Amino acid sequence: MRHLLFGLIAAMTAMAADTKSAVTFNKDILPILEKNCQSCHRPGEIGPMPLLTYEGTRPWAKSIKSAVVTRKMPPWFADPQYGHFANDRRLSDADVAKISEWVDAGAPEGDAKDKPAPVQWTEGWNIKPDVVIEMPKAYTVPATGVIEYTYFVIPAPFKQDTWVLDGEVRPGNRSVVHHASVHVRPPGSQWLKDAKPGEPYVPPKTPPGEVAKDAQGRPVDVSNEWLLGYVPGVHGEYFDVHHDPVHRAAKLIPAGSDLVFEMHYTPNGKAAAADLTKVGFVLAKQPPEHRLLTVPVANTDFTIPPGDPNYPGHAEAVFDKPVELVYSQPHMHLRGKDMDIRLVYPTGESNTVVSVPHFDFGWQLVYYEDKPISVPKGTRIELSAHWDNSANNRYNPDPTATIHWGDQTFDEMVFAWVGVIADRNDTLDTVMAVRRGNSANSSPKP
Ligand code: HEC
Repeated sequence: MRHLLFGLIAAMTAMAADTKSAVTFNKDILPILEKNCQSCHRPGEIGPMPLLTYEGTRPWAKSIKSAVVTRKMPPWFADPQYGHFANDRRLSDADVAKISEWVDAGAPEGDAKDKPAPVQWTEGWNIKPDVVIEMPKAYTVPATGVIEYTYFVIPAPFKQDTWVLDGEVRPGNRSVVHHASVHVRPPGSQWLKDAKPGEPYVPPKTPPGEVAKDAQGRPVDVSNEWLLGYVPGVHGEYFDVHHDPVHRAAKLIPAGSDLVFEMHYTPNGKAAAADLTKVGFVLAKQPPEHRLLTVPVANTDFTIPPGDPNYPGHAEAVFDKPVELVYSQPHMHLRGKDMDIRLVYPTGESNTVVSVPHFDFGWQLVYYEDKPISVPKGTRIELSAHWDNSANNRYNPDPTATIHWGDQTFDEMVFAWVGVIADRNDTLDTVMAVRRGNSANSSPKP
């Protein structure tokens, strides 16, 4: 009996060792890295080390295991309980298990014949742009220090209303461009009115608690339309092809608009670096059936007390037109802790569009719906968020400060961009006239 038991244990141990050593880099791990990691972990991209070869990957085996087991990598912040996203980056449980097993088995290389073909990464445009608009001259990012968000107002060459089907932002120098957003500033907008065309501009700081307003009395930050952006690892933005393959909707650049490049530069710590960022557009040959609008939802009226580890933020707005929601992008700054975005239908039922339980300022991800969510007229959209203004938040620039709305990272926001497919003649204002909770729309403070 005892022999039998020993035999059994020995056999099981042997089996376990067998299955373990059966997982190899070439056969099992490299395909996972190609599909999920190399978009960032290759030379010239934002991942700190290339994961292209066995030699390059082997020294990182232990930290790769811990990064995938803790779900720190690939970066993805939406709680999987809510929503289905076209750009979901999470690894399957099976892939996580394979990586763990491989590392535990001593990270064997395996047989060269099992290697998958290397991925051919595109350098250059991912779209075929009809028009390219570039910063008129390079901006030099110093080697060290902190650079405020820098804006470039660039007159767009569009003499008539122009519909864009697709767009891509190409940072000139990825080592210093942390993120870049391109906004449309329609004629008459007061936003960044003191900026000289083509010149770098850092807006003056708004005094605490005060919000700069545009001509319509709305906070200036929400009066322009966000067009598209580049965030690390996203390789530009394709706001049409992935989500609306039949080109039902396009974005409008009204005649005479300016483009505003909002640049977040982070010095690379080594040397001064020049950047010349550009944006490319694919133009619609004819006006589309629908307009794709990026609707801002925000609340500028809040006061976060010093030291508060979990101060709640809230914003809401009501859709005055029926639309289809195609993406959402929660946005907060360094004290941002979590955010849920919810639709509350006229029936009273609610639907959590996205829940980000651990917000990370370093990753401003856009969550694209797998299928458009239909939003009847009268539906309320609600943002519920929390900030951590305590000393325990290691990103907190100053836990002793009282914090208000502001566009600097040491100020705060409770904000989301929400992409909707609307009627061709709709505008930000017809789709959503009242953004409740905005100080512009709520009663004045005593
Ligand atoms: C969207 C870009 C992106 C993708 C995709 C990505 N990484 Fe990363 N990775 C980064 C960046 C940027 C860092 C450094 C900063 C950080 O840690 O957040 C990093 C850091 C790491 C680290 C360093 C250790 C650590 O925990 O800080 C490991 C290990 C890692 N990645 C493994 C992976 C693996 C394995 C995959 C695929 C399963 C992957 N990454 C996918 C961008 C990415």
